[in-house]
Amino acid sequence: MATNERTARNLEAEGKRTAGVFAANQVETDMVLGLGTGSTVQFALERLAARIRDDGLRIRGVPTSSVTATEARRLEIPLTTLEDDPELDLTIDGADEVDPAKCLIKGGGAALTREKIVAAASQRMLVIVGRNKLVDRLGIDFLLPVEVLTFGFEATRRKIAELGCETYLRQDASGATLVTDNGNWIVDCRFEDGIADPVGLEPRIDAIPGVVECGLFCGLASSIVVGEPDGGVTVL
Ligand code: 5RP
Repeated sequence: MATNERTARNLEAEGKRTAGVFAANQVETDMVLGLGTGSTVQFALERLAARIRDDGLRIRGVPTSSVTATEARRLEIPLTTLEDDPELDLTIDGADEVDPAKCLIKGGGAALTREKIVAAASQRMLVIVGRNKLVDRLGIDFLLPVEVLTFGFEATRRKIAELGCETYLRQDASGATLVTDNGNWIVDCRFEDGIADPVGLEPRIDAIPGVVECGLFCGLASSIVVGEPDGGVTVL
């Protein structure tokens, strides 16, 4: 790897760490949290675990994926469910893209459906990102993930494509079709010039029979915590 690329990756990781640690430091004792998914959330989980261990912080969290659940158990973060705690105080989660209106694309980790349910059950959603995730328009660089039922897949895929995008069925690292924690598939959608109207598009995708959920999150993020490579944060 070239030195410039290595430096850029280190700065990106540092921004994620800064944002994750900042968000975990906002948590107060007795809060019930939504625990998002991804590499930025990992930094928040580690900081929460340290605060539980060292400062006696008392919390419980609803994980948004099997990966986060496994990681939380490893770190000895107490877990709960939306059945036992249907109203959450705060969700901390990452994003793949964030636009100036705080609309998000999520689902890079294929956890978008549980992430949206958990965010919607929370009083506040703190989104933690590095500066590279801020974009003027969603969907130009990152394809929009949509979780779909396997039943009737081709019919559902065609309806999604009729909205004006190219669709790609997501594969896992071994080349097999990726199966989500919910037993569904992910279609990644490329809109030629990005997504001009995310607020309008989100309900149109979600209304297609066979679509479980799309990765547009509009009106859910309370604040965006941008981790800066110099160790500071900007809160939007
Ligand atoms: C998972 C997500 C993640 O929050 C998103 O992909 C960002 O991940 P990372 O923090 O690793 O960049 O939506 O479904």
